[in-house]
Amino acid sequence: MKQDASASDRFRFFPQLNDLQEDQKRWLGSDSRLFESAALTYFAGESLQNRLVREIAAARLLSIKEVLESFEFFARVRKQARAACVADLCCGHGLIGVLYAMFEKRVERVILADRVQPPSRLKLIEIATLVAPWIEPKIENVQAQLSPSDGMVPAGAAIVSAHACGVLSDLCIQIAIESGGPLAILPCCYPKSACQAPQSLVAELGLKMAFDVDRTYRLEAAGYLVRWTSIPSTITPMNRVICARRRKTV
Ligand SMILES: C[S@@+](CC[C@H](N)C(=O)[O-])C[C@H]1O[C@@H](n2cnc3c(N)ncnc32)[C@H](O)[C@@H]1O
Repeated sequence: MKQDASASDRFRFFPQLNDLQEDQKRWLGSDSRLFESAALTYFAGESLQNRLVREIAAARLLSIKEVLESFEFFARVRKQARAACVADLCCGHGLIGVLYAMFEKRVERVILADRVQPPSRLKLIEIATLVAPWIEPKIENVQAQLSPSDGMVPAGAAIVSAHACGVLSDLCIQIAIESGGPLAILPCCYPKSACQAPQSLVAELGLKMAFDVDRTYRLEAAGYLVRWTSIPSTITPMNRVICARRRKTV
């Protein structure tokens, strides 16, 4: 079912943000660190998500943009891209994987994989564990240069990745096709040289749309059913989410 633009532009985890004025909303896509005072104002209340955001702010760990991007991406894909094992690839700070460990009871194992391990990830795991102690045994930190067929992702694992820049999104697609599990990506940075879409589509649809159409056909050809959705454009203009599940065979 096609979602209307206004529905996908609404905040799901934090509905209070939907009521902000346009000039206040500009802050939601900002790269500035999230401070405690702002967190106390906008993320009051005792829900798990509000408590986690306040802890992130107290530690001055991430920008408001990174926080909202991860939460809203997770809100849109958590049911479709879910398996007992979830791999957050090119995870950076790893917040998306942490959210799976925290909010999805049926997720038993979360792999956070990236070629580098920023200090923010260990700190994030530490403070998230204070808010939700049950996440600790689920999380596995892996420092690795990912490549197709490296066997790092177990068969059937759900693969998620936000801002796997350029061809890293294609790497995630390739790994998902090989491991057979569901996939959800939020692509960003579309290098023209790596776009495999026909020139006529690039000319007519623009590079980003043509790139993602080509990715969609690649997934469908590999037996996946693909769905597009988006996170609020106030967080980032690169807000398309591609979600894919293997079709059931009869
Ligand atoms: C733009 S960051 C995205 C981080 C995070 N997912 C987010 O939403 O903020 C891209 C990440 O990909 C990682 N990366 C790049 N090439 C990689 C590779 N071949 N294998 C694993 N990680 C890689 C980088 O270290 C970086 O953390």
